[in-house]
Amino acid sequence: MNVRRFGDSEALARGAAETVAGALRAAVAERGVFAIALAGGDTPRRMYEQLAAQRELDWDRVEFFWGDERPVPPEHPDSNFAMAAAALLRPLGIDPHRIHRIEGERGDLAAAARDYEEELAQTCGEPDGRPPVLDLVLLGMGGDGHTASLFPDTAALSEARRWVLANEVPQLSTRRITITFPLIERARATLVLVTGASKAGVLAEVLEGPLDPQRLPSQRLRGLASVEWLVDGAAASHLRGAGQGES
Ligand code: 6PG
Repeated sequence: MNVRRFGDSEALARGAAETVAGALRAAVAERGVFAIALAGGDTPRRMYEQLAAQRELDWDRVEFFWGDERPVPPEHPDSNFAMAAAALLRPLGIDPHRIHRIEGERGDLAAAARDYEEELAQTCGEPDGRPPVLDLVLLGMGGDGHTASLFPDTAALSEARRWVLANEVPQLSTRRITITFPLIERARATLVLVTGASKAGVLAEVLEGPLDPQRLPSQRLRGLASVEWLVDGAAASHLRGAGQGES
């Protein structure tokens, strides 16, 4: 398992931005396009701001997707799109045609999820109908061990075929649209960003505890060679394993 430990969240944001920039350069050089699924929540914001400063990158070759979205309009403060738009997309003046927003505001979230699958397929679909291959999936991890909107004991955890679903989240009395593990498992690379002392206990359970992925969905990422965990010292403080040190 690939765990990179950073001194603090600022160093992690810098390191994560460098990793994304490297993946972007390699994908554009090899295939002329970089398809990325952005993470929501608060953790990635600083990394997005760092990326927005790297204006020399081939941003006009990047297709932006999201790993999940809340059931809110795009200008709502809870919107994952709104956070990335403010920190990354607007500062870089990204062409709206390459911004593939999840339409969380729609009444019929199942239809919005189906439409999003189609949009993913059109950009990075596979001829054999298998899930599209994203170049990079960015994820966070919640204090309950969820990732994207794959929450403990929710229906989307067991999905083996669809790659985007509307997921009932009773513990939050809400519904979310989320990518599924079949899509994450097909991605060329996945970065999971975890910072802060509040995540230390659950991160140790996820990475080193007994397997219980219904209760700790992020454990589904544990066995994937394509997944890199970027953690700061506070979040890593309960880990027994070394994890590569970083600046
Ligand atoms: C969301 C995210 C979610 C997030 C974790 C961590 O929509 O909230 O997709 O999976 O990454 O909850 O959130 P923080 O980064 O805010 O701790």
